[in-house]
Amino acid sequence: MTLWSGRVTHGLAREVEELLRADDAELFYYDVEGTRVHARRLAQAGVLTGEELRELERLLDGLSWEPGDEDVHTLIERQLGEVGRKVHAGRSRNDQVATAFRLYVADAAAEAIEAVVRFARTVLDRAEEEADTPMPGYTHLQRAQPVTVGHHLLAWVEMLDRDLARFRFAREHAGPSPLGAGALAGSTLALPPPPGGTMRNSLDAVADRDFALDYLYACAVLASHLSRIGEELVLWASSEFAFVRLPERAATGSSAMPQKLNPDVAELVRGKAGPALGRLTGLLATLKGLPLAYNRDLQEDKPPVFAARRDARLSLEALSVLVGELAFDRGRLAAACADPLLLATDAAEQLVREGVPFREAHERIAEQVRSGTFEAPASLHARPSPGPGGVHEALAEARRRFAR
Ligand code: ARG
Repeated sequence: MTLWSGRVTHGLAREVEELLRADDAELFYYDVEGTRVHARRLAQAGVLTGEELRELERLLDGLSWEPGDEDVHTLIERQLGEVGRKVHAGRSRNDQVATAFRLYVADAAAEAIEAVVRFARTVLDRAEEEADTPMPGYTHLQRAQPVTVGHHLLAWVEMLDRDLARFRFAREHAGPSPLGAGALAGSTLALPPPPGGTMRNSLDAVADRDFALDYLYACAVLASHLSRIGEELVLWASSEFAFVRLPERAATGSSAMPQKLNPDVAELVRGKAGPALGRLTGLLATLKGLPLAYNRDLQEDKPPVFAARRDARLSLEALSVLVGELAFDRGRLAAACADPLLLATDAAEQLVREGVPFREAHERIAEQVRSGTFEAPASLHARPSPGPGGVHEALAEARRRFAR
């Protein structure tokens, strides 16, 4: 059965049915909720009796997903039986799907916020443990100046904090309800607006997918952050760096080489950034050039969002285990920043404090480096943590931001 079988006399070709069918399992719960809201509007307007509304709500509570229908809307109306034949008054699948999808995206964004906060707290715990553990800081992947592990991990926390802002934006912008827009031009049934009010323009309400783009953008940036973190973990776990040892709970062996412990978790998280970026550009490409209002192309909006939600959750959860249980090798880290050359910039600044112009100080120290005579003054060995209050104050401040 289709919702539009009244319009045609013959059934669909199987090949066409297959093309049309939406993979809506993930949307099911949200479309049930959207239908509940719409049923209440119908009852308020007198289109449904109180008894019919109660019957509908009871049935809605008992629905369950099954595959095979053209889309989730067809499934729900079919499962609602006789009273379900009334529920589509004053709405269209166009405002219905936009409503369900917005509920979905708002929920997915809220879930991402929770997961990012959990991961950030794990990183903060590790930053606290390693607050004063020296490590080399890098530019161009060349040892540059000493920092601390705590300071480095707090940089990750800043990236995650900006991710939170993007997910909050996406959650907020998925908020308005398209119900009331109907197919594109509203309805002659005088239905009350949905809770929270309906959108200003009915054409926009059914055609807009910016909220999905906002979510996919937040996911793409998060994925690129997690990918950078993944890359650092791969480097740090290598024998060349050996700054960390991977926890066995989050590492993999080799099927061929018995000695190996591989950073597959970090690599997969890094790899997932590619598809994450593709989902954003893919939906942008689907949307560009679509005339208002609804077009069936829009059915392609959901699979990338479903996949983005899954990948964000999987990546954040697995990375939390990995980072939470990493063993930092303080000996290796200390050895890696024992090279006095890491203090060459500090030595130049020492000369600046004595009144030497910086360019001249740079030249003098560079000459010492070239001739192999550079020796960092003893007073420079205890390089303070960067930032005015040092790493401990930065930690306390970040803790306050991530406290609930
Ligand atoms: N499955 C469709 C989608 O995801 C629902 C809307 C169908 N609307 C229509 N006029 N054919 O977009």
